[in-house]
Amino acid sequence: MLKINENYLKLKASYLFSDIAKRVSEYTSNNPDKDIIRLGIGDVTSPLPTACIEAFHKAVDEMAKEETFMGYGPEQGYSFLRDKIAEFDFNKRGVKISSDEIFISDGAKCDTGNIQEIFDTKIKIAIPDPVYPVYLDTNVMAGRTGENKDGRYQGIYYLESTEQNGFVPDIPSEDVDLIYLCFPNNPTGTTATKDQLKKWVDYAQDNNALILFDAAYESFIRDESLPHSIFEIEGADEVAIEFRSFSKNAGFTGTRCAYTVVPKKCRAFDNAGNKTALHPLWLRRQSTKFNGVSYPVQKAAEAVYSAQGQEEVKKLTNYYLRNAKLIIEKMTKLGFCCIGGDNSPYIWINGNRSSWEFFDLLLNNAGVVCTPGEGFGKCGEGYIRISAFNSYENVEKAMYRIGKVL
Ligand code: MLT
Repeated sequence: MLKINENYLKLKASYLFSDIAKRVSEYTSNNPDKDIIRLGIGDVTSPLPTACIEAFHKAVDEMAKEETFMGYGPEQGYSFLRDKIAEFDFNKRGVKISSDEIFISDGAKCDTGNIQEIFDTKIKIAIPDPVYPVYLDTNVMAGRTGENKDGRYQGIYYLESTEQNGFVPDIPSEDVDLIYLCFPNNPTGTTATKDQLKKWVDYAQDNNALILFDAAYESFIRDESLPHSIFEIEGADEVAIEFRSFSKNAGFTGTRCAYTVVPKKCRAFDNAGNKTALHPLWLRRQSTKFNGVSYPVQKAAEAVYSAQGQEEVKKLTNYYLRNAKLIIEKMTKLGFCCIGGDNSPYIWINGNRSSWEFFDLLLNNAGVVCTPGEGFGKCGEGYIRISAFNSYENVEKAMYRIGKVL
């Protein structure tokens, strides 16, 4: 008899953003004349930078000619892209990361979801609450948790982000092996200082632990004192893996390109307690299960690092940050306490009522879609997340409508 992986039965029936999409489509089919403004899922709305589009077109043309056609690419991604990443995203910021420590992929979602495969199933995991659901769900699927009781999976150490700790979780009070962190944070939009990250790196070193650092939103950082990468902290290359994406800076949500940095020094331990490098394990995993990102997409991503690309990406992120500023201003004026939005495209708002009640109120009365905080974890109850990814005109309209109903 073929049996299923019963761990899947422990999961909530559907993924948060699918749940929301279902409610929105129900609303639109019942109200076909009402227009909806989507400030829910963090999906970009502006077109790709011209520099990327031009490189993309050129690469597609190359695929049409025998002399320039490309088949399977190198396993870790083309060096033309990895070299640029190493130079611009790390070396120029004084961080020593080499091109062969970078793995190009089709998304930070896939990488943050897949990385757990290279670790033992019996490790102790620390996961933030609220959290981007992928980190948690993929560990549930892998059997690293017990059942979900009262909104918490048994066996997980939850790193609570609350008003009391400024939405930056405290260092665990017990031993954990694998720690997920995300800064600028999804969903709260908070950032972590170098001193705060150093405490995590020290913890990982002292406890033979590892940090999985999701930096998908680093391009929104404007405060020069804030770290863009965990590798800005000395010693982090031994105890951290970092995830980056072209989705939110250059608008690649539909085009798909991202990368993961696994430094050569980065280690975990085998059953006998011997230090084991993670780089070869991730390479083995990726070369077995993944065939890379298409050549034209990698060419388009490379163009992000051209002078024109850099300028365009700055303009795009500034545009969304201007939206975020407007959201904070308006929601604060309406009497709500807002977090994030200054170095992040997300604004975390205390709604003074249940998250889903607030979500329904905004959807049904204002035609605005947000994300209910409770969907990100127990500590998110009472909050909503508003995303700044939309046109300025739509954000203005959404804020006007929200002002009328609250
Ligand atoms: C979000 O809204 O949290 C993100 O768009 C999800 C993602 O990037 O996968």
